Order: sequence, then C-alpha cells, then structure tokens
Amino acid sequence: MNSLKVCSGKFITFEGIEGVGKSTQVKLLVEALIKADVEVVATREPGGTEIAEAIRGVLLRHYQEKMTPTAELLLLFAARSQHISAVIKPALQAGKCVVCDRFTDATYAYQGGGRGIYLQNILQLENLVQGDLRPDLTLVLDMPDVNFSLSRAKGIGTGDRIEIEELSFFERARKIYLARANGNPSRYRVIDANHSIEEVNQEIIRAVDERFSAG
Ligand code: TMP
Repeated sequence: MNSLKVCSGKFITFEGIEGVGKSTQVKLLVEALIKADVEVVATREPGGTEIAEAIRGVLLRHYQEKMTPTAELLLLFAARSQHISAVIKPALQAGKCVVCDRFTDATYAYQGGGRGIYLQNILQLENLVQGDLRPDLTLVLDMPDVNFSLSRAKGIGTGDRIEIEELSFFERARKIYLARANGNPSRYRVIDANHSIEEVNQEIIRAVDERFSAG
C-alpha cells in the first residue's frame, strides 16, 4: 500500500495491556511498511539497545526482594534514555519510520495506573528524559474484557514480574490508556482488538494512513 510512504520519519508506538495481540500487529504493520518501501526500525520497550535490554532483564525477573515502584519507574526511564539516544532519535533524523512496541504511555498506564505513582511525577521524568520527543501516532489496542485478554496472554506470555499482577492492576492500566487517548485524539487511535488478526491489521493501516495523509 503506497499510502504508507507518509510514515517516513514518523514515530509510531503500539500500546495495550497483555493479550490484546500487540506483538502480532506490530509485526504486520512493519511488514506492510517494508512492502511499501518505507525504511523502518522496529523496536520495543523496555529494551531496544544493549544496555536497555539488560535493564529489561532486571525489570522483568522475579526476586524475593520487592522492587519498589520508584525503582521500577527509574529503571524504565533509564532504559528509555538509552533507547532514545542510540536508536530512536538517530533513526528519525535519518528519515526512517520507527515502530515501537510500547513507550511512555505504558509507564503512565502500568506504573501510574497499575502501581499508583503520581502521573505528575511520570510527566516530570518524561520531560527530563525525552525533551520534546513524543510519538507522532500511538495505536492503543483495546479489548473491553480485561479478563479475557489476560487469559489469552497466559497462553503465550512469559509470566514475567509485571505480567503476573492481578486483574485490577490491568483494569487500572487500561483506564489510563483510554483516558490518555480520549484526551488527545489527534495523536492516539484506539483500535478495537476484538476482531480477526486481518481485520485489526486493516484498521491499523487505515488509522496510520488517515493520521499522516492529513499532514
Ligand atoms: P511486553 O510484554 O510488551 O514485552 O512488555 C514487558 C512488560 O513491561 C509488560 O508487562 C509491560 C511492562 N512495562 C511497564 O510496566 N512499563 C513500561 O513503561 C513499559 C514500556 C513496559
């Protein structure tokens, strides 16, 4: 689809709670972009660089000791700082399209909604670490039945330290995602993930095209 050419130099992020089919949809969009001859960098958070992937390991491993929400938050932003300087900014400056599986909206949702960290504190770190870098488009994959998406995730997930939180944690995370999307409709598109893989992919391509073709 040639219309995807408009994605060059754009920063696109995917968000959503566990089990909504995010990784599959990231892969399909990246394939469509490559097919449309767009230079694309596919990456993820936490992670995306050697140091950031090492921090991911620290974040997701299980410990007897409780990791404080503040330590978790700072580790996420430490990884993000590396990721932005080594991968995201250079790619955008080179005119490539960056597609990232999760970014700072996940911190608002999981650490803010899930763990109860003040959103204002997250905002301060966002400004410190990112300057004015924000995604051009954030696709929030949504399934209203959180219990259903979590049960899907159990079948495919790794059961990492964050994935094993209780239902209410993910319900709070989902609420934050939707609130952020509703508050800024030009940057966000909420995608109903309760359809076939192909239908969701088509909806995402439409959303991307619509967002960037409008200029
Ligand atoms: P993944 O399942 O998408 O690979 O993400 C790994 C876990 O990290 C997932 O449970 C969500 C969590 N996470 C946060 O809690 N805050 C964040 O800012 C990010 C990027 C991920």
